[in-house]
Amino acid sequence: MPPHRLWENRLWQPTTAKWFFVVFGFSLAYAVIRYHFAGDVAWRHFPLFILNKATSLAAVIFVACSYLIGKIIRWHDHDKALRLVVIKFCGLTGFFLAAVHAMFSLALLSPAYYGKYFDEVGRLNLEGELAMSAGVLALLFLLSPAVTTLPMMPKAIGGRRWKRSQRAGYVALAFVVVHLVFLGIKGWLAPGDWHGGIPPVSLVAVVAALVPLLVKRKLEHEKQERAAARLDLDSDD
Ligand code: HEM
Repeated sequence: MPPHRLWENRLWQPTTAKWFFVVFGFSLAYAVIRYHFAGDVAWRHFPLFILNKATSLAAVIFVACSYLIGKIIRWHDHDKALRLVVIKFCGLTGFFLAAVHAMFSLALLSPAYYGKYFDEVGRLNLEGELAMSAGVLALLFLLSPAVTTLPMMPKAIGGRRWKRSQRAGYVALAFVVVHLVFLGIKGWLAPGDWHGGIPPVSLVAVVAALVPLLVKRKLEHEKQERAAARLDLDSDD
């Protein structure tokens, strides 16, 4: 392979670096503006509590983008090889950030930080337990597409199983939606309490997680309609 093609196939390159700075930069700015400037969270909670919010939001956006590039995000259509690199970069970065978020959250998980997910004796309440188990399942389902992006995997497990493992990301996104509904729904329904009128991170994230799920449904529906139309044509012949 000529040297310039080697560079083009690298995961970290100018295009993916731009993706990282835009998505992570947006998530960080959103968390800082909403919780430090519009809200009343003290700056001493930036290193873990606020960074955790930015990390989790960026994780969802990256995973969502990895399933939307080539479908509704058409920026890299002119270069198929680059598009594959960006899809892989978004998926793996999303998985990596989700794992960092899980570790950050477990370090923080206590009534002092997240009083609303605990009961009066300091155990997780029902919403807290459901949200945490959905989060753990989401992370496990993300593991499958992440591992099978290793270069030898398509050959090792075969095309059909490889595709199925990539689709596990949609199951992960569905669990992320459940995770966020249990964590956030009460806050979403009280817009009067939103700091500075800015929606919570969990609401932005649930929208980001729902977009690929809805796009997938729409594309499948269109495919079925096309197949039915073809059948109609065949039967007319
Ligand atoms: C072991 C797995 C997980 C655990 C223990 C966990 C834990 C938590 C906790 C405690 C929160 C509340 C944070 C807060 O209100 O500041 C949270 C929020 C969140 N989680 Fe997870 N999570 C896990 C997996 C995931 C995964 C896989 C994703 C997405 C890929 C995700 C995305 C989010 C998002 C976007 C929020 C909203 C943050 C906010 O509202 O501030 N989580 N998670």
